[in-house]
Amino acid sequence: MDKFVIEGGHPLHGAIPVSGSKNSALPALAAALLTDEEVVLERIPRVRDIRTMERLLVDIGSDVAVSNERVTLNTKKIVSPEAPYELVKTMRASSLVLGPLVARAGRARVSLPGGCAIGARPINFHLAGLEHLGAKITQEHGYIEAVAPGGLKGAQVVFDRITVTGTEDILMAAVLADGETVIENAAREPEVVDTAHLLRKMGAQIEGEGTSVIRVRGVAKLHGATHEIIADRIEAGTFVIAAAITGSDVCITGCLPGHLTALIAKLGEAGVTVTQPNETTLRVELRDGPLTAADMITEEYPGFPTDLQAQYLALMTQADGISIITETIFENRFMHAQELMRMGANIRLDGRQAIIAGRSRLSGAGVIASDLRASASLVLAALVAKGETVIDRVYHIDRGYEKIESKLSAAGAKIERIE
Ligand code: EPZ
Repeated sequence: MDKFVIEGGHPLHGAIPVSGSKNSALPALAAALLTDEEVVLERIPRVRDIRTMERLLVDIGSDVAVSNERVTLNTKKIVSPEAPYELVKTMRASSLVLGPLVARAGRARVSLPGGCAIGARPINFHLAGLEHLGAKITQEHGYIEAVAPGGLKGAQVVFDRITVTGTEDILMAAVLADGETVIENAAREPEVVDTAHLLRKMGAQIEGEGTSVIRVRGVAKLHGATHEIIADRIEAGTFVIAAAITGSDVCITGCLPGHLTALIAKLGEAGVTVTQPNETTLRVELRDGPLTAADMITEEYPGFPTDLQAQYLALMTQADGISIITETIFENRFMHAQELMRMGANIRLDGRQAIIAGRSRLSGAGVIASDLRASASLVLAALVAKGETVIDRVYHIDRGYEKIESKLSAAGAKIERIE
């Protein structure tokens, strides 16, 4: 298993480029199942979750050709409408093939994801949504089977709570359903909007993406399309926090600043100035004063993203004062806190809250990555810790960050991958 060895105390400089969004690329790849024509996706990040999804699509029957960040998909026929346990257990987002498979093939068999490091994460809302669209759902041997032999029928789907991949899954099912579907309490995340944009290029009739009510008028067939995935706002936000925690002057390029307004506002409260030199660049300016503690609550978009909570928590260990971070999306997303405490952070956990007393002098230690964003927070802490930090199990970070060690090294960090 690979490890990162990071020597702290080196400021960052220059520009850090952002890759395409993993969480937008995943539904986009699944959406290619909806047509027998060619779908070309650009700016697909070469990360492990994407490779897992590509493997799944090949098993299902897609011809997948990868050339750098361009992925060309042809699914003439659905050979096996199934997502096996071996893949789903490594990546829960495999359930994104559920909607497209039922819509195109009238049948899907998808392993139920098991437990997860950050919370229970069931897929009951995806299943309830499909049932509303007329699918029959049964469960046996750890698998969900969804069938709709006569095709799906448009319906009203009201989510009990906002779900990102649930919205994408039902959206992808509804585009080929007979009649109109109205998805209420839909997720407004940019990744949902990007999915809708791709589907529209494929001939789908969708209105309201980016709001909490999405209307879909089903069509009989979708066609091929070419689509460039949006920039990864979570990767961009991670680099913004990397600059902030090291007190550096850095530009984050190729990003979409409008997707990060909650983070930028919160950093402003904490004494970090982030400017926008142009439409696709964010600049973290050199800080002249200390970081100040600022409470934060995670929320669905456009609120502060749960996927930046761990990184923000690392930042708050370096802020003067006490900050309270409240995690409202997942019930167990503070695994990084224990590891940060090993590095000298002063954190108390109380249910869904972390209370951080700063500023702590962090020192390098051996730590273990527990999930994707937790790993990123350990990298950030290591950048300012005294001495050397060794992060074990970096395969978690490889799931969602493209070449993070090269990108940070090029900006002046001392970070090395040990195989
Ligand atoms: C997406 O997960 C992202 N993954 C996650 O990113 C992200 O943290 C999350 O949205 C929240 O923003 C992808 O896009 C591939 P949810 P998703 O359904 O869709 C509960 C990362 O680090 N829920 O919006 O699985 C659920 O347990 C990852 O890149 C149900 O109870 O999240 C959670 O508490 C991690 N039943 C809440 O809703 C359901 O059927 C929101 O989850 C579905 C969800």
